Amino acid sequence: MFQSMKIAPSILSADLMDLSRDVAMMEQAGAQWAHIDVMDGHFVPNLTFGVPLVKQLARITDLPLDVHLMISNPLTQIPWFVEAGATSVTVHVEACGPGELEQAVAMLHDAGVMAAAAIKPKTPVSALAPVLADLDMVLVMSVEPGFSGQSYIASSEVKVAHVVEMAREAGASPLIQVDGGIGVETAALVAAHGADVLVCGNAVFAATDPAAAISAIESAGDGARRSAMSL
Ligand code: DX5
Ligand code: ZN
Repeated sequence: MFQSMKIAPSILSADLMDLSRDVAMMEQAGAQWAHIDVMDGHFVPNLTFGVPLVKQLARITDLPLDVHLMISNPLTQIPWFVEAGATSVTVHVEACGPGELEQAVAMLHDAGVMAAAAIKPKTPVSALAPVLADLDMVLVMSVEPGFSGQSYIASSEVKVAHVVEMAREAGASPLIQVDGGIGVETAALVAAHGADVLVCGNAVFAATDPAAAISAIESAGDGARRSAMSL
């Protein structure tokens, strides 16, 4: 059955002085998730949000809160984000020591929260192997994590296809999320290669009409998915 693309606008690019207005816009425009980029100034150079913002968002919206942890030592903070109301938590494989990725997934599942693992552009897909069969979602980064508004790294879609293939071989079917430089054209590209969830920052919030941008990205993704299915 055809499953529509999920669009997860990244609030990193929203107007933080008018965040509740932007979140209401996302709801009305049919965005399925709100993506929250948590950066610690250590795992990535930038410093952004933490637990208090997730707590406040949970108070004002019913949108699922998709927390992308770009932090060192994620195991310490996972319980706090769960408690704050995260629907899904993504941990970077590069931030985990031996056995920690498995622990993160178990912790999230015990709490009834979706568990996701992210790989940076230079990280091989094979780094997901220890947890792939247990993941609810894989995040393929299509820019170096740290900043919004960067350009999509060419050929990231090949990595998406590789994850789909590796998951199939492992007998798993996690959602595949792509994050970084996604707009109408790149949405179609990654959707055709198997992406299910698209994170978009700049392409939505820098648009003259952000709600129309969400619809256009969703339509582009859906169109490409339909064509890929009928091949
Ligand atoms: C980058 C973040 C992204 C980013 C997306 O480290 O994880 O979520 O904000 O922004 P755009 O869509 O502008 O690349
Ligand atoms: Zn992100």
